[in-house]
Amino acid sequence: MRLSPFTLSLLAAFPLQTQAQLHALAQKAGLLYFGAATDTPGFRERAPYPQSYAQYDAILEDPEEFGQTTPTNGQKWLFVEPQPGLFNFTEGDYVANLANRTEKILRCHALVWHSQLAPWVETTQWTPETLTEAIERHIREVAGYYKGRCYAWDVVNEALDEDGTYRKSVFYNVLGEEYLKLAFRVAAEVDPEAKLYYNDYGIERPASVKTAGAKRLVKMLQDAGVRIDGVGMQAHLHADNHPSEEDLIATSKGYAELGVEVAFTELDVRIKLPVDEQKLKWQSDCYEKVVGACVRVKACVGITVWDFYDPFSWVPDVFPGNGASLLWFENFEKHPAYDGMVRKFSELIEGNVTRE
Ligand code: XIL
Repeated sequence: MRLSPFTLSLLAAFPLQTQAQLHALAQKAGLLYFGAATDTPGFRERAPYPQSYAQYDAILEDPEEFGQTTPTNGQKWLFVEPQPGLFNFTEGDYVANLANRTEKILRCHALVWHSQLAPWVETTQWTPETLTEAIERHIREVAGYYKGRCYAWDVVNEALDEDGTYRKSVFYNVLGEEYLKLAFRVAAEVDPEAKLYYNDYGIERPASVKTAGAKRLVKMLQDAGVRIDGVGMQAHLHADNHPSEEDLIATSKGYAELGVEVAFTELDVRIKLPVDEQKLKWQSDCYEKVVGACVRVKACVGITVWDFYDPFSWVPDVFPGNGASLLWFENFEKHPAYDGMVRKFSELIEGNVTRE
């Protein structure tokens, strides 16, 4: 093939970026996956940026880059059961089908959560019996619909308060900790192949009261004879004050000692705006520490970033003054953290580090 002077000048201006990236490296380092969560085109944070979809999709779908995905919203109660007994899988299917088409592992998220809950669940006057029925129907329909397609389900999300005690959600207020047992029991029955996870934020540091709470929760289920397979550390972290690699390792091992696997399920590292080089360096350090911890702990199966393109991140909306928490800037240049993780994975692979 003859390359025109125009093509040659383009190639010189944009040298081909090295292939075999995050997911390929993660697998070489012994993980099951490196993934990126994504949302339905045209909705929520994605809505204002249709012009970036083509470039975005090319990165998301690259099998070497991301080997796993999670719907950031589409499987939540608000969207799948907006009215009692009325189910709608349109948004969840968008991401489930994308996973299938691009051969990515699918993490499913989330069956029972106090937030983005359909309003009727909070306004109904429940008895323990009627709420039990509603939870059971929800899980049977949703986990049943996706049966066999989810590597893992976040069965219960964010059941703990900041002080490590149970969050006083409608589920807890009516049923106490029984709702946790119920949710895991029904999920296990409906989709026996899926790994059943408890997922939360602020459970990444070994000394945090929430970490202690998450361990108590796992033990409570186990003592009741209920299956739980994994703990998901959401890992919505801060560039300027993040856990050390040793801490992330200690926390992961603490969960693993209970006999469950772990994953970093919603990783992002927010920066207090404006962005500068120092903050991007701290951010890179943080992403690299997560990579180091997951590779060094055998029970850690993978890392998911909560989307990868800054404009699609939930952070600026929910934490005003913060942003740039992901791996690609708005102009599709990569953050230093991207190269930082590539370097970190490569060092660990070359050093043949043992996963223990
Ligand atoms: C976020 C989504 O990314 C946003 O689009 C949505 O508006 C709010 O929820 N913990 C979770 C995720 O478990 O489901 C949340 O996702 C982020 C915090």
